[in-house]
Amino acid sequence: MLASVVILAASMALTNAHGTIWGPGMYCANEGNPNADYPSKQNSYHTGYPLYQLPWDKFWLNNNRNCKNDPPPDGEFMEVPANGVMKVQFASSRAHTNYGWGGKFYTGFVDGLTGYDVNENQPDCVTSPNIHAQNASMVAGSAFAIAYKSDINSVGLEDMVVFSVNQHAPWITVDYEYEVPDLPACPEGGCICAWSWIPNGCGEANMFLNAYRCKVTGATNTHALAAPQTPSYCEFDDSSCVQGAKQLLVWHQADGIDNINVDNRKQANGEWASPGFNDKCGFKHGAQTDIFSDSQISYTPSDDSSSSSASSSDTSAATGNVAAVMPADSESSSYEEPASTSSWEEPSSTSAWEEPASTSTWEEPASTSTWEEPASSSVWTESSSEASSTWSSSSAASSATAQCRSRASRRSLKRDLARAAAERKAREDPSIPERRAMNAHARSQRRAAHGL
Ligand SMILES: *[C@@H]1O[C@H](CO)[C@@H](O)[C@H](O)[C@H]1NC(C)=O
Repeated sequence: MLASVVILAASMALTNAHGTIWGPGMYCANEGNPNADYPSKQNSYHTGYPLYQLPWDKFWLNNNRNCKNDPPPDGEFMEVPANGVMKVQFASSRAHTNYGWGGKFYTGFVDGLTGYDVNENQPDCVTSPNIHAQNASMVAGSAFAIAYKSDINSVGLEDMVVFSVNQHAPWITVDYEYEVPDLPACPEGGCICAWSWIPNGCGEANMFLNAYRCKVTGATNTHALAAPQTPSYCEFDDSSCVQGAKQLLVWHQADGIDNINVDNRKQANGEWASPGFNDKCGFKHGAQTDIFSDSQISYTPSDDSSSSSASSSDTSAATGNVAAVMPADSESSSYEEPASTSSWEEPSSTSAWEEPASTSTWEEPASTSTWEEPASSSVWTESSSEASSTWSSSSAASSATAQCRSRASRRSLKRDLARAAAERKAREDPSIPERRAMNAHARSQRRAAHGL
């Protein structure tokens, strides 16, 4: 009985599909727990949760999850090839990318399952995986930005310039490409990059933002980037789009920190307007080539010109999306994975994991309460009247608790609690065979992970 609860909880949790870009150089690979031992957080997924109605200190670079204090290992960078293409992986959990478990549970789809149709079209939104779009053509787009500073704590919105947009990401597949303009090299300690996504409807009107320690490889340009301007919403008037270097968007957060407001506006399809990294806010698909200033960089660039990055001239994917790999056999073992439970459990750092002080930031009651959507009366649906929609921030502000969560998300919270309880019980009883098997699996995975 317990075994089935644990396995069920683990596999269901992995079907929850918010997400982020997982990979080398990322902050928060361990969900903001800086004491986590590898491979204890190979299944991280909280890092991919959305940001909504947060004050600046929690919002910025997902510090809501203590992400600034969960840096990548020393010397680990996300590589940004000048004039090339970044190949990155988006998934609901680290486990479903090559950055988790050495890629063992990668299926090509964001929730680690198989058999989806990439041409799926559901007018009421695709909910499995829950990817906040009706079909591929309704994908809102997402962006990478870069700050030419090495200390994440000194990076502000005004330092971050959006340099690449993929208007077709993320969709239900894992692999995406972002084209890179002629960026100059970073300072010696690297740059800080960020990835952000604002979905267009199909769920809570929230957004995603994560940080990466990055470096530009193969750089020859020595022009600095221009100071980024605040983007505008220009869907019906291209001439009002902000040209040149632009900031990341900040939307539907707290305390007046938003830098865009589309309240009471409708978009062309009649739904509530949503800003995003797409034409509606003046972000063209691909490399942002108009972001440079006339001045030269004013620091000693790091020497990365001899990088081995092999992807630099591969622009063959017209949409920037890479086809999903369809495994020949769809064994269910790829998502039952007892490993996920064992990693979640993190035996070696139990005390850090459960320590009350870190629990308050880690478990984050505020986010949980907004996460849960008690009423669910304000779920974003196309048939909603104006009054019942939270897509507009004016009504959202007055309904901080009436979050637009999917039912799956509420189930997810219950699953988390059930899983935590089951795992506590399992820890206390070493006679449970699954527990022993999980630990054995974790040990072998640990070795594999260190080989990454
Ligand atoms: C995608 O979804 C939108 C909104 O429901 C719809 O208008 C459009 O026809 C769909 N496109 C495809 C290719 O299914």
